[in-house]
Amino acid sequence: MSARILDGKAIAAELKDSVKQKVEKMVAEGNRAPGLVVILVGENPASQVYVRNKQNSCEQVGFYSELKRLSVDTTQAELLSLIDELNGREEVDGILVQLPLPGHIDEETVTERILPTKDVDGFHPYNMGRLTLRMPLLRPCTPKGVMTMLEKTGVDLVGKDAVIIGQSNIVGRPMALELLAARCTITICHSKTRDLEEKVRNADIVVAAVGVPKFVKGEWVKPGATVIDVGINRLDDGTLCGDVDYDSAAEHAEWITPVPGGVGPMTVATLLENTLQAAEMHKDA
Ligand code: GUN
Repeated sequence: MSARILDGKAIAAELKDSVKQKVEKMVAEGNRAPGLVVILVGENPASQVYVRNKQNSCEQVGFYSELKRLSVDTTQAELLSLIDELNGREEVDGILVQLPLPGHIDEETVTERILPTKDVDGFHPYNMGRLTLRMPLLRPCTPKGVMTMLEKTGVDLVGKDAVIIGQSNIVGRPMALELLAARCTITICHSKTRDLEEKVRNADIVVAAVGVPKFVKGEWVKPGATVIDVGINRLDDGTLCGDVDYDSAAEHAEWITPVPGGVGPMTVATLLENTLQAAEMHKDA
């Protein structure tokens, strides 16, 4: 069997197009365009690429956007005071602090300082709590983007066995909550999990978010499974690869996401969707 490719680039383009049309309508009705401020502390090369992508995408859909570049020695107090200022600015609907932050800044304190209605990353305990209680508001972008992709497959999720590899706050945990809300039976695997391979072998849906190149082997994949690869790793030869051994997994899966061009573009498109949602909430408030 050769898997069908879940084309994140194409689905993200559709999503962006729909956001763009909604922004045009909002503006035509006399409202201001949604506004996003991205804060980058330091010069992490991967973060710089992500932030540039986010800025370009904002421009494409007609958002107002600002990038706040802060030096690596910015204090936590300075960052918190910038967030306070942005929380109070009416034209700012979304505030995104690019992670990781330098070691002297506490990510939890920073995340909690963003107003929950401007938390377009969905990382604030308020938004995570709402997702946990099945009353979601702003949902973390990567898992929400994965749900949009899964919808496109037409695969019925109800009662399916889903295995998530990785327990991070930004992917693994909210991914599990999303799949649970969609009525999957979920298993979250992590570095202490026993018999991980066997768990993957029984999974109808596998989400890999471990950060280890080609960690999931093709022969672990159950015939007909859906394989979602959240990883993006740069190999020594400069090429990019995911957390799944794509070529061998594609021989077993029914659906598979490529890297690049899978989950990555969906995360950015979903950030736009969330910022539009925040702008609509602010408009109606
Ligand atoms: N770093 C890696 N992924 C993300 C993300 O989704 N949001 C933020 N703010 N930082 C990240």
